[in-house]
Amino acid sequence: MEKRTAYNGQVTEELVEKHVTLHGWVQKRRSLGSLIFVDLRDRSGFVQLVFNTAFSADALAVAETLRAEDVISVHGKVVKRSEATQNLNNPTGKIEVEVDGIELLNKAKTPPFDISDDVQASEETKLKYRYLDLRRPEMQRGIMMRSKMMHSIHAFFDEQGFIDIETPYLGKSTPEGARDYLVPSRVYPGSFYALPQSPQLFKQLLMSAGFDRYYQISRCFRDEDLRGDRQPEFTQIDMETTFLDEEQIQDITEGLIKKVMKDVKGLDVKTPFQRMSWHDAMANYGSDKPDTRFDMKLQDLSDLFKDSDFKVFSGAVASGGQVKAIVIKNGANEYSRKQIDQKQEYIKRFGAKGLAWMKFVDGEFNGPVAKFVTDQHNELKDKLNLVGDELVLFVADRAKVVADTLGYLRVEIAKEQNLINKEEFNFLWIVDWPLFEYDEGDEKWAAAHHPFTMPDDEGVKLLDTEPHKAHARSYDIVLNGYELGGGSIRIHDREIQEKMFKVLGFTEESAKEQFGFLLDALDFGFPPHGGLAIGLDRFAMLLAGRDNIRDVIAFPKNSKASEPMMNAPAEVSDAQLAELGIETRD
Ligand code: AMO
Ligand code: AMP
Repeated sequence: MEKRTAYNGQVTEELVEKHVTLHGWVQKRRSLGSLIFVDLRDRSGFVQLVFNTAFSADALAVAETLRAEDVISVHGKVVKRSEATQNLNNPTGKIEVEVDGIELLNKAKTPPFDISDDVQASEETKLKYRYLDLRRPEMQRGIMMRSKMMHSIHAFFDEQGFIDIETPYLGKSTPEGARDYLVPSRVYPGSFYALPQSPQLFKQLLMSAGFDRYYQISRCFRDEDLRGDRQPEFTQIDMETTFLDEEQIQDITEGLIKKVMKDVKGLDVKTPFQRMSWHDAMANYGSDKPDTRFDMKLQDLSDLFKDSDFKVFSGAVASGGQVKAIVIKNGANEYSRKQIDQKQEYIKRFGAKGLAWMKFVDGEFNGPVAKFVTDQHNELKDKLNLVGDELVLFVADRAKVVADTLGYLRVEIAKEQNLINKEEFNFLWIVDWPLFEYDEGDEKWAAAHHPFTMPDDEGVKLLDTEPHKAHARSYDIVLNGYELGGGSIRIHDREIQEKMFKVLGFTEESAKEQFGFLLDALDFGFPPHGGLAIGLDRFAMLLAGRDNIRDVIAFPKNSKASEPMMNAPAEVSDAQLAELGIETRD
């Protein structure tokens, strides 16, 4: 095999009349009798090869046998194509290569799907043959872009004096929100390591150890329900600093994002990013990760309807809930009753009991609910700034149900109505979070971020009296409606940390048992510290313009947390289990 002189995508007009050696995969072959065209592909793109007896009869004979995905090496001369045959959509489209030598390096069977961006295969098939799926140009671009991000991130932290420190994957199970992945110990039968949900405690201890600025691009493992933006193992851009406050940490984060956006996308993003309180985000957008690329805010109508005869509305307010609405401008004719009914069905998953709606057309309200709220028509029109041709959707319920439902509908409708500028990258800080949130599943209070988050000054006092009213010194960074990252100032005071554990339901003994090492460390001169972690996969997904993080992970798990190529997870031999002292049950 001759040495390659260029990648296929780099063979442009500058190389005309030069001789090149190229390697790659046959994308397609077109045969016009004694003239054969082959598109040769590699990670950089593709170039057109021409075979003809005029250049080499031997090469032509081999070309006749070529099929998609065969691997070849060719030698030939770069020539300019006639104007009529140029393909201006391809960077190599003005030239072609007249092949005078070919080596067939490997034959390919017919692949299970076309190696092209309009591939028509199921997700499962693509994952089973992931190495083929990854040959597709858009997949290659995503993975290569991710690599560029990694370089940019490492360069940024290095320039800023951060130290890259690895932390263990085999650790101890600690409650961080999700379920742990456990690894049985052979040496200590019945004992388990836990894979880290994040390097949180290690990075805090590194601050205690005096490294001042830590970062790591680290793998994290969480056994949780999967979604398009969640994988069981994912990567965090993790950092921690000593002696900085939240503004300073946010500044560093903005610097990082600015650099990555410039290096990877060539974009200049404006800093500082907008800051929004958690309370305003929930009130106006029904979400702690609002997409602010479009407006359509939630409007609180609880006061207007609290005495209404329409019991659906007044009843919700009377029992401590809310009535809120969103207005879809120019929406009166866009949605049929049937379409609204479908949404009504869908939102039941958020616990919503219904979806009331009215249209405002020619100065009149209509729709099934309009006649029940005639007393409020005028005020409603003023309050919602209705001018005509609007659809108004109402939800009356507990605050959480209202927020979840309208927060969802707001985004869904914006997508349907094309209200979102897909080119825009809208970074936003959500600040002033509550310290605790009520976990409806587990029916108990949980840390809104994690148990190591510092309450604000007022919150420290509230820990003894009304802890659930405390606010946290935490912040999330949001991009286009996705939670990109989160962080906080941490507790560095043993007494506060112990109170925090107590509110979370730990006894003194159980806190010591689980977190004794942290509590001990807090006794030995632990400096004030704080940090943040950004989900690299999500960041890469959004920069690549994709909507599933699988697309920017080389070997991801499917939506059921399995990996169809290697077939993981899989059973292991009885001998392996015996060695670990483990028996399985059906
Ligand atoms: P948190 O749990 O918010 O914070 O995680 C930080 C970021 O990691 C990403 N992320 C995920 N990405 C893909 N799949 C998942 N299953 C997944 N889970 C989380 C998100 C998220 O914003 N130790 C703290 C950070 C800190 O306080 O410094 C932490 O892990 O983008
Ligand atoms: P009903 O009186 O139950 O027939 O409901 C009248 C209208 O109000 C229907 O369009 C319901 O979908 C809607 N609706 C019922 N419950 C709620 C609710 N909690 N919030 C908003 N709309 C509701």
